[in-house]
Amino acid sequence: MYLPSFSLQGRTAIVTGAGRGIGRAIAVGLAEAGCDVALVSRTSADLEETAELIRSCTKAQTYIIPADITSKEEIAHVFAKVTRDAGNLDILVNNAGMNIRTPALEVTEDQWDTIVQTNLKSAFMASQQAGQYMKEHGGGRIINISSVGGHVALRTGVVYGSTKAALIQMTKILALEWGQYDIRVNSVGPWYFRTPLTEKLLSDEQYMKEIVDRTPLRRIGQLEEVVGPVIFLASDASNYVTGQTLLVDGGMSIYGF
Ligand SMILES: NC(=O)c1ccc[n+]([C@@H]2O[C@H](COP(=O)([O-])OP(=O)(O)OC[C@H]3O[C@@H](n4cnc5c(N)ncnc54)[C@H](OP(=O)(O)O)[C@@H]3O)[C@@H](O)[C@H]2O)c1
Repeated sequence: MYLPSFSLQGRTAIVTGAGRGIGRAIAVGLAEAGCDVALVSRTSADLEETAELIRSCTKAQTYIIPADITSKEEIAHVFAKVTRDAGNLDILVNNAGMNIRTPALEVTEDQWDTIVQTNLKSAFMASQQAGQYMKEHGGGRIINISSVGGHVALRTGVVYGSTKAALIQMTKILALEWGQYDIRVNSVGPWYFRTPLTEKLLSDEQYMKEIVDRTPLRRIGQLEEVVGPVIFLASDASNYVTGQTLLVDGGMSIYGF
């Protein structure tokens, strides 16, 4: 009688960066939990593959919406299309992101602008669209995919880490402002997961050993292990949780030496 509902039946979500990696896993997981899912990235063929995966294991409706989320106009188009075609919007997952690992003294202005626009500004612009709609329609849930790199200092990650730390702070401030509308805003901060973003890095045996040595659970994450926390934060099971960042890091962030 105390088991809360983790079901997302009847809900609609937008997942940015749903074409591969963590975003694809989240989109499929949300669909498995009963949610209809709008899939957003710049590459239609990737989105088609994600939609095909969803169709192969669920009855969820998918909406394929190719868009560059660094463009305010394209973000507005995504929201207009989802709210028109699906008729509702309950969940936004700001997952699209990028990294260019560079020592701080070598970071160019162009790199700074590109990473900040992709990881931070786009998440804010999308949250603003979602916040407006959710305020007018009785609430919703926003989940920002941040990173352990926004919580602890990682070498060559000055731009990426700064955007992810800002995303964690943005999560708190939006939660504070929008709690009164029953809009919950939370963040999930992964450590290393094998995706196209990290593939090259994780194929370096020495680097992989350093990661594993620093991780109490002695391994990198499996994609489904980031999906469960997202479903928790999207569902009624977390109705009294807002403004939080759940680090999904095998304990890495508690490492004190
Ligand atoms: N993998 C990890 O270990 C790890 C750890 C911590 C945090 N994260 C975070 O998790 C998120 C997903 O990472 P990932 O590893 O799955 O990355 P990934 O494999 O590189 O996938 C990134 C996704 O974002 C999309 N994307 C990038 N820029 C975009 C833009 N301007 N407009 C629309 N879509 C865009 C990409 O599609 P297109 O390029 O086709 O547009 C792709 O679908 C990121 O925010 C990342 O920082 C990942």
